[in-house]
Amino acid sequence: MLRVGIVGCGNIFTMHATSCYHLENANLVGVCDNKKDRADASAAQYGVPAYYDYRELITPEKVDVVHICVPHYLHPVITRYALEQGVHVLCEKPMSIDYADGEANVKLAEEKGLRYGVIFQCRYNDASQLIKKNLDNGRLGRIISARCTLTWSRPDTYYSLSDWKGTWDKEGGGVIIDQAIHSLDLANWFINDTPIEVQASMANRGHAIMEVEDTAEGFIRYQNGATLSFWAMNNYGCDDPIEIRLLCENGKVIMDYDHAVITFNDGTLLQVEQEPDGIHYEGGKDYWGFRHIRQIADFYNAVEQRREPEISGREALKIQKLVCAIYQAGKDGFTPPNR
Ligand SMILES: NC(=O)c1ccc[n+]([C@@H]2O[C@H](COP(=O)([O-])OP(=O)(O)OC[C@H]3O[C@@H](n4cnc5c(N)ncnc54)[C@H](O)[C@@H]3O)[C@@H](O)[C@H]2O)c1
Repeated sequence: MLRVGIVGCGNIFTMHATSCYHLENANLVGVCDNKKDRADASAAQYGVPAYYDYRELITPEKVDVVHICVPHYLHPVITRYALEQGVHVLCEKPMSIDYADGEANVKLAEEKGLRYGVIFQCRYNDASQLIKKNLDNGRLGRIISARCTLTWSRPDTYYSLSDWKGTWDKEGGGVIIDQAIHSLDLANWFINDTPIEVQASMANRGHAIMEVEDTAEGFIRYQNGATLSFWAMNNYGCDDPIEIRLLCENGKVIMDYDHAVITFNDGTLLQVEQEPDGIHYEGGKDYWGFRHIRQIADFYNAVEQRREPEISGREALKIQKLVCAIYQAGKDGFTPPNR
């Protein structure tokens, strides 16, 4: 049995703790939050000890694996600490704010022979899996162009009630690094090639309460000629499903988050709708989906089988590089909030 600890008992904690609880090869043995009331409440819920300093939980005497569910700027710091202690790391997205911090931890994990994974649970949606399978087996042919759209709602209280969201130093950005990172990762994973040109523009159009972008659009060109256009914003009235469309050599794909339709040029149709997994995630949000458990299961199996997890730190560097390039391209002309 793997001994698992979780650092960060905020919103996303439930997806990690519930998944760990339901997986047979792991036991939650401790939780940590520097806000004592949160650590105590989560510890009481799972009947495990509470820690208020991550260094007390993350030691090889106590845990084999640590899940990191804290604000973005702390991801590389706590990842590094855990790897130095000899503990395997499964970190929430993004792996870091700066590319270099993520890359350094990937190298450290590889040097130490430790598993390092980064959460991108949307890859495990049935819709994403169907599309990826039909790209990998060649049926769809090469992607010619792709586009992805995210129109979500983040009210002012989403930022005002948080001590890190909506800041450049602690969150690292806004809609791109926090929300659209999932749809960009999916599109980038589908295209599976090297970006050679990144254009972007960013603005804060509707959230004078905070400093980072709530709107971004751009264009990415890949070495193999494929292009990806994106638009993301947090000023819509609800969280519509993220949408990805692909124009491929042999057909077209429309993905509505958990629903995919593939229409091949010969008229053949393939589609899939996500089935619930029957597990209740207390406080879970629809737009997170419920596929954390599949990625966490793969990570625990990777630790046991001494192999790389499907979404390793090295794999996550691909979207990290792209996100950093989008900020580099978009920050220069950034339109700040109209206060
Ligand atoms: N995969 C997804 O779909 C998804 C969805 C939501 C959030 N997330 C990610 O999960 C992470 C956490 O987001 P959240 O919404 O749960 O944030 P949150 O603010 O609700 O929770 C973060 C928790 O970390 C704690 N914390 C801060 N500093 C700490 C420290 N030094 N030691 C221990 N605990 C500390 C805070 O007190 C807080 O309870 C972020 O990386 C976010 O992007 C991912």
